[in-house]
Amino acid sequence: MRSTYLPFALPDVGDAELEEIRESLLSGWLTTGSKTRQFEAVFAEAVGARYAVAVNSCTAAMHLALEAIGLKPGDEVITTTYTFAASAEVVRYFDARPVFVDVDPVSLNIDPARIEEAVTERTRAIIPVHVAGLPADLDAIHDIARRHGLIVIEDAAHAFPSVYKGTPIGRASAFTCFSFYPTKSITTGEGGMICTDNEAWAERCRIMALHGISNDAWKRYSAEGSWYYEIIAPGYKYNMTDIAAGMGLAQLRKAEAMWQRRCEIARRYQEAFGGVAFLETPPDRSDCQHAWHLYMLRLNLDQLTIDRAPFVEALKQRHIGVSVHFIPLHVHPYYRETYGYQPEDFPVAYQQYLREISLPIYSKMSDDDVQDVIDAVLEVGARHRLQGVQREPSVSG
Ligand SMILES: Cc1ncc(COP(=O)(O)O)c(C=O)c1O
Repeated sequence: MRSTYLPFALPDVGDAELEEIRESLLSGWLTTGSKTRQFEAVFAEAVGARYAVAVNSCTAAMHLALEAIGLKPGDEVITTTYTFAASAEVVRYFDARPVFVDVDPVSLNIDPARIEEAVTERTRAIIPVHVAGLPADLDAIHDIARRHGLIVIEDAAHAFPSVYKGTPIGRASAFTCFSFYPTKSITTGEGGMICTDNEAWAERCRIMALHGISNDAWKRYSAEGSWYYEIIAPGYKYNMTDIAAGMGLAQLRKAEAMWQRRCEIARRYQEAFGGVAFLETPPDRSDCQHAWHLYMLRLNLDQLTIDRAPFVEALKQRHIGVSVHFIPLHVHPYYRETYGYQPEDFPVAYQQYLREISLPIYSKMSDDDVQDVIDAVLEVGARHRLQGVQREPSVSG
């Protein structure tokens, strides 16, 4: 058993990030400035989007996307229940309704058939989530959106660098929103990006990310800037700083290498866990590129004498940090109490949640770390394996 605790996630940051941050600090320009613009340009290029607007979180990115389309109180936005708080709370900001739908049991991504059933005359948008970095079924989602006049805002918090049937995630829908939280595939500490090909929407997001004041307000303390500005709407304070953007630039330069390492770790896990009776390994798709932000293992509980929570605890005792993705949104008190949801209203999401464990998968893991995780999972499973039903000893004579 390992003697030190292996964290569930660790950012891969070092000298390159420090150098960029140092440059930002020494430039005297700490907030949104040229590094942020540079980060936007390099990111837009990386995903093939026409416009990229850097903000301080993926949550802010999704909020601004919904603002840009003019979401109104009483409108409905269809999203998955199998996601993090952010994907639905941004809809509530408008007093609009997040309409949850169930997921595909294999991919855990939103089930397009369920989306179709949930569309009403109040539906304005769909927010699919690429869970773990495996692209959702965008062809089917876009087809529904087209037929019903809906806007697709991808929650791509997990999906850099994912590719859907040859198209990088970031250029396939009206909006794509990324996260650069410390656990994500590239990080800026806190940060996010809105990608869109629509100039008017990009402009609206940029303005609303900085108090709703006229464009290039961030330049007002620079030589080229002007003291004059106009407030065109009550905006937000969502801008990215140059300190964060510098970090992002360094991260983008090593994004490919970090992704390759995660793919290698995923391969080792798949080999070690494939065919193990008490485990179900996560799916991949030959027509897509998986970002492998998460490695979501599922327990075959009918093969085990313990549930997921003691399994997690046993891994923790072996100094392996793990997590659970996700506690479906409809199970949380706020959504239960507001909309009267019961756990079984979305049975696939709820049942899969009960069996899910996310294992560490990040570029700073050594081969020994990966082996430690494999050994711990197999050992805990073997120790709590359900042995076939024991027969009563037969009484003879
Ligand atoms: C699916 C999903 N969407 C959105 C977010 C929010 O990202 P951020 O923390 O950058 O706002 C997360 C964060 O973990 C997430 O997992």
